[in-house]
Amino acid sequence: MSFIVAIDGPAAAGKGTVSKAVADRFGFAHLDTGLLYRVVGRVALEKIGPALDEAAVIALATQVDIADLERDDLRTAAVAQAASKVAVIPEVREALVVFQREFAARSGGAVLDGRDIGTVICPNADVKLFVTASAEIRAERRFKELAARGEETDFETVLEDVKARDARDSERDVAPLAAASDAVVLDTSEMSIEAAIAAAIEAVDTARA
Ligand code: DC
Repeated sequence: MSFIVAIDGPAAAGKGTVSKAVADRFGFAHLDTGLLYRVVGRVALEKIGPALDEAAVIALATQVDIADLERDDLRTAAVAQAASKVAVIPEVREALVVFQREFAARSGGAVLDGRDIGTVICPNADVKLFVTASAEIRAERRFKELAARGEETDFETVLEDVKARDARDSERDVAPLAAASDAVVLDTSEMSIEAAIAAAIEAVDTARA
């Protein structure tokens, strides 16, 4: 039987950590849907160049190779911005819908994290969470992550990147970043990640009872 946990939220709010913990706890499969957009962004930068010509990006999005989700070069700041830009194109989003819905419907349970899972991809999800935090706190986390990986950057640049991505992801016409009206909101600027994980697990336990 399927059981769907939809976890949405802005960049670096902690939704990846919460998603992995929930998937581990219940033995569910986990899909980080941001990786799909990152693959399209990464391949587009390589094959089309930084102007990201729309028709060419759409053609790429219809041929995503799922094996590319394992690439180790998807987590850079440049790829994050490219992902956010290609994600604005409605045809790119459409091209990725079927894969996400099939993943969600698998028996044994699935956790999907992204921006539009509870609102568009799986509006009937069994549990919906919206994990968020202030832009400053998220930028601080992302800055530490990038620095630990040896990417040369500074806090102000990361904060601007986070804000630019928030604006693009929330203000686009199709499937903007938004909390579903029935989502449980977890603000990790006010709670530890451990507390957010505990709240997420409790929400799943309640829905399964
Ligand atoms: O979650 P992430 O930072 O890896 O996502 C990268 C970009 O992909 C994000 O800025 C917007 C886009 N995205 C989206 O539009 N919808 C999703 N479900 C997931 C990501």
